[in-house]
Amino acid sequence: MKLRIPPMRAFSALALAASCAIAGQVHAQAAGAAPAGNAPVGNVQNARDKVSMCIGCHGIPGYKASFPEIYHVPMIAGQNAKYIEAALNEYKKGARSHPTMDAIAGSLSDQDIADLAAYYANLK
Ligand code: HEC
Repeated sequence: MKLRIPPMRAFSALALAASCAIAGQVHAQAAGAAPAGNAPVGNVQNARDKVSMCIGCHGIPGYKASFPEIYHVPMIAGQNAKYIEAALNEYKKGARSHPTMDAIAGSLSDQDIADLAAYYANLK
């Protein structure tokens, strides 16, 4: 069986890479200006209540989501926390689009995103 991989995926990966670089710069500046910062700090323990939303799709190697069409689900365990955070913020703000991830990210607060990013970054 051949899997359909949306052509947008390649493009969104590029867009993500570009915006990651930008987000990285902004973060570096923010950290330099205010060490205490306003950005939420990810809490791995708190994320444990929230990952139930994610484990149905992420975390199973090679798993494919089958709704609304077949998508490859990217591996996020062990990814850089900033990368995960940036991706979730992009879905939330519409810079990146995917039917299920848009809905999920839209329901997450900045604190949720920071917690989940910390959690997945620490998963090996
Ligand atoms: C219904 C299945 C599903 C659920 C539930 C789900 N995801 Fe996803 N997720 C996907 C798919 C499919 C993609 C790839 C979408 C794309 O190509 O843009 C994705 C992409 C991502 C990405 C970007 C990864 C990358 O390398 O580009 C992150 C980060 C992410 N999800 C985090 C989460 C988190 C955190 C949760 C729980 C709050 C979650 N996802 C819940 C299916 C799901």
